[in-house]
Amino acid sequence: MKFETVANLVGQVPFISHGNAKYLYNLIVRERLSNILELGVAHGTATCFMAAALDEIGGGSITCVDLLEAKDAFEPSVEAQLQKTGLAEFATIHRMQTGYTWFLHDEIARNSTNHACRQVYDLCIIDGPKNWTIDGAAFFMVDKLLKHGGWIVFDDYHWTYGAADLRRSSTDGVTHRDLSKTELETPHIREVVELLVRQHPHYGRVVVLGDSDWALAQKTMSEDKQYSFEYRESIRSMLLGALHKIFRRLKGGGR
Ligand SMILES: C[S@@+](CC[C@H](N)C(=O)[O-])C[C@H]1O[C@@H](n2cnc3c(N)ncnc32)[C@H](O)[C@@H]1O
Repeated sequence: MKFETVANLVGQVPFISHGNAKYLYNLIVRERLSNILELGVAHGTATCFMAAALDEIGGGSITCVDLLEAKDAFEPSVEAQLQKTGLAEFATIHRMQTGYTWFLHDEIARNSTNHACRQVYDLCIIDGPKNWTIDGAAFFMVDKLLKHGGWIVFDDYHWTYGAADLRRSSTDGVTHRDLSKTELETPHIREVVELLVRQHPHYGRVVVLGDSDWALAQKTMSEDKQYSFEYRESIRSMLLGALHKIFRRLKGGGR
């Protein structure tokens, strides 16, 4: 399915921007990334864009993982959006009691023989609680399952608990008031990318898309390290994006 077609069907539903959706779609098509793991699904809007890309390259599958408690929290649901786009065959939805780190436990166990884990995924998108402990651990677990040449996408590079919706006291089960001032003010995903991913010997290529809150890492398995901080959008569209986010938050739709 063409990008414009899926964008017309689900493009107005949170939580992925038009720019990031296009970037993800093009990455999947260009690199033919057919076995995908999506950690944090919500309405399944990114799922639909990825499924459309798989349709375009002739097949593949997306394993989607979210929380059991979030099953009825998102309207439209991921199932409804996949139905609407006619792309349901590409995705399998798993809902876990405590979250995706235990799904990763199961997945590593399922794929392990003789104390070695089979590398099965071409792409993983980590877009859940934005938390150092959970997402830091998830990174090391995902690495075990990711193929040589595969990619990890991290959302929320700049996100902090401190700047999150001030009307709520917790985010995805983590209570804000239990965090130290530094933990509240530091972007946890940035620390995962800068301290864990960049230093990891498997990840030779790290790209931070400064204006989109995304960072990507490729499992190159090489000693050479390439790091870039890129801006794709103009100042004007960045400002419009920020205003749009604030507007959504004020309307109660912020994450
Ligand atoms: C921002 S939304 C995901 C958006 C989606 N990737 C997209 O771009 O369309 C974050 C999701 O992560 C889920 N989540 C938060 N903590 C989680 C955890 N520990 N395990 C699994 N899912 C989690 C939330 O329920 C929510 O649906």
